Amino acid sequence: MCGIMAYLGGRDTVEVLLEGLRRLEYRGYDSAGVAVSVDGKIELIKSKGKISVLAGLLQNNKPEGRAGIAHTRWATHGPPSTANAHPHPDCEGHIAVVHNGIIENYLELREQLEKEGHTFRSETDTETLAHLFEKYYEGDLEAAVRRGLKQVKGSYAVVAMSDKEPGLLVAARQYSPLIVGLGEKPGENFAASDPSAIIPFTRKAYLVDNGEMVLLTADKVQVKTLAGKAVKKPVFHIEWDAEMAEKGGYKHFMIKEIFEQPHALRETIGDRIVGRRMGLNLEGLGLSDGYLRRLKKIAVIACGTASYAGMAGQYAIEKLCGVPVIVDVASELQHRESVFDKSTLGIAISQSGETADTLQAMRTAHRQGAKLLAITNVIGSSVAREADGLLYIHAGPEIGVASTKAYTSQILAMLLFAVHLGQVREAMTPRVARRLLRGIKALPELAEETLEEAGHIKSLAAKYKDIKRYLYLGRGAHYCSAMEGALKLKEIAYLDAEGYAAGEMKHGPLALVTEECAVLSAVVAGPHYEKSIGNLQEIRARAGRVIAVANKSDKEIAKYADDVIRIPETEEVLSPVLAGIPMQLYAYYVADIWDREIDQPRNLAKSVTVE
Ligand code: F6R
Repeated sequence: MCGIMAYLGGRDTVEVLLEGLRRLEYRGYDSAGVAVSVDGKIELIKSKGKISVLAGLLQNNKPEGRAGIAHTRWATHGPPSTANAHPHPDCEGHIAVVHNGIIENYLELREQLEKEGHTFRSETDTETLAHLFEKYYEGDLEAAVRRGLKQVKGSYAVVAMSDKEPGLLVAARQYSPLIVGLGEKPGENFAASDPSAIIPFTRKAYLVDNGEMVLLTADKVQVKTLAGKAVKKPVFHIEWDAEMAEKGGYKHFMIKEIFEQPHALRETIGDRIVGRRMGLNLEGLGLSDGYLRRLKKIAVIACGTASYAGMAGQYAIEKLCGVPVIVDVASELQHRESVFDKSTLGIAISQSGETADTLQAMRTAHRQGAKLLAITNVIGSSVAREADGLLYIHAGPEIGVASTKAYTSQILAMLLFAVHLGQVREAMTPRVARRLLRGIKALPELAEETLEEAGHIKSLAAKYKDIKRYLYLGRGAHYCSAMEGALKLKEIAYLDAEGYAAGEMKHGPLALVTEECAVLSAVVAGPHYEKSIGNLQEIRARAGRVIAVANKSDKEIAKYADDVIRIPETEEVLSPVLAGIPMQLYAYYVADIWDREIDQPRNLAKSVTVE
């Protein structure tokens, strides 16, 4: 949510900043701006709209300097406008600030600063920081930032510059992501809210922790605590390479990422399944067998798509291990303190690892004595750092705002954990464990096979193009597929789509079914098959159109559906990984027909770092 990029060095500063911003645009795209230090002055250029608008402005008026800060915004306080775009200057334009997060006490601070004579130009909470730093500035930006931040309650990743100290940037972090990029060659350094911004320039980084401050010049980076104590940081190597964050010939990142799923799933498996005997090695899990044997309950902490991956895990864990699992969205779970105790394991699932709601719920869980396992994509992210145990999904950068490859990889990670838990608790025989692991190992190939349906799914999207109301139904392992399918269509095609447990139809939603409504349902072999067919009959009896996602070997399904999308056979508990793919493709092709902004849907952002 919002992206920060900062640079010091001898390259074309504006070009570096814009390149970083373009890679961060998925985090927010309401407005953007840059501030560059030029001959002892700060030049500020910003605009409402996307980075391309800003780049257009800069083309004819490019400030030449060796230090700059930049920002792409997702509006929280104050609507999208040029005035509300970052960077924000102080009264006289001597200081400029970019910020992610929320300054919770900004109204109080603003009132005080206004009384003291400061003039505000925007409605943002961020501008308060610029004025606070101005208030305390006595020729030393580091000291001003330190004193200013002492007054602040809330979350921030902030980078400040002053025209009096042109070769210096001061950054700080509290609960919002911040990374420092160390120049591969001497004489340049970077800071950003996300590794994807700096990977074209460097892979060497410091992961800034909460309560830390960084002083950056082109030649030196010093990390300190907010209290001023020097901190020695290990250099972190970013593994993702620059091409992974490019579109590579695809029309959108989303479709590229959908097609990357076989690779992403292979990476999630990595060397965790070993040898022909199917040994399972979850190195780094950080939860002892003794603890896993003792735990009595699991609570999945996640938001949106990640929570639906959690539902797939819930079904698998309950079925395979006999451990009860609660799944609730993190914004609710953070207030359900009685869910957590010493015998409850919280599993936090988050692609970005920076989702504020998820982090808050993790803190609730920790306060109540629960342990936490993180399933995340971003190495060194806050979710990873605040958990007791870790399973990285290694899906590679996911740039499209709609989560795709992270979803299926998250399910796969949950399945690996379910098998591990089942083995440790002796809830499954070694034979069953081997069978499941063999099934998991085959998923990347089966995902490839599933993707062969893309052409057919595209033609269905065209066939049903005028349908404006969708119901997505599922039972058992595929309750999650229904929820995720509906979410994808809503967020990128902007169509009404509801996900339901199929058994709920007769309790209300059936009233929505007319010939103007289409129903998508994953109906795979397993204990819920017959009842799911019953639901399809109910729909067709009311003139609704049915698109079924069913197994290749299913000879019956065509009788109950208008159209069928085929997925390969696998164990029922593993099948949500495959059923997720047609749901993504259908939403993508419908959205493309309507020419939606698929990678950056309106009102949304990739990484939601505010509650
Ligand atoms: C939907 C989507 C969101 C995210 C949610 C959590 O396509 O991407 O629903 O799943 O915002 O994000 P992470 O996984 O980064 O915590």
